[in-house]
Amino acid sequence: MKTTIFKDERTLARTLAVQIAAALGPRPTSILGLPTGRTPIRLYRELGTLHAHAQADFSQATTFNLDEFLGIPPEHPGSYRSFMQEHLFSKVNLQPERINFLSGVAPDPDAECRRYEAAIEAAGGIDLQLLGIGTNGHIGFNEPARELAGPTHRVTLKASTRRANAALFGGDAEQVPREALSMGMATILHAKRIVLIATGKSKARCIARLVNGPITPKLPASFLQVHRDVELMLDAAAAEALAVRA
Ligand code: F6R
Repeated sequence: MKTTIFKDERTLARTLAVQIAAALGPRPTSILGLPTGRTPIRLYRELGTLHAHAQADFSQATTFNLDEFLGIPPEHPGSYRSFMQEHLFSKVNLQPERINFLSGVAPDPDAECRRYEAAIEAAGGIDLQLLGIGTNGHIGFNEPARELAGPTHRVTLKASTRRANAALFGGDAEQVPREALSMGMATILHAKRIVLIATGKSKARCIARLVNGPITPKLPASFLQVHRDVELMLDAAAAEALAVRA
């Protein structure tokens, strides 16, 4: 696993945005897997800026987001679809028909998960999967558990994850749905290349466990150790526990 440490969050976001834009040049039809959360906001802002300066062209790219809340329609202000619209989709020239999202209001959530898996496969698989990480080691909505589901699936959210998402629901964790749909770790590990970004001291411990600890469903991110092309992009604070074994 390659680890790159940046002096601050801004440099990290800028560097990754430039890399993504550069990769789209020779491979304009790239398939990108995208996270939501606080961490990628700066990256998305940088991508928007590059696009505004005609330095990033998403016109032929395809995206698949990692996850969505169950029971929340795409136009709801708390949906991850709305988050992406605000932070990235409204800022770049992605074609709406090439933006893929799990539907939180599909009548049959299990069938929706199967549809998503098939859509990723039909698109040719994800070329670059961007990830954030929860302080408990979750990836997407793959929460620590005794067992993990491999493919895209329905999940019950931990109280800590619902609290972390309260801002999307007026600051009230009780309003955050109890369930969600998420790509599974197998879906994620099928991506050709994975870049995980983590910033801030609160991520230091799970990053150290991810790098130095055993592969365990108690830390879903630890499964990234088995992938041959993973890069961790960290700021100094998120990297500070790396010398210490988990
Ligand atoms: C959301 C997702 C989550 C977040 C994680 C970290 O699509 O994939 O796993 O990456 O909860 O969130 P932040 O970036 O807010 O710390």
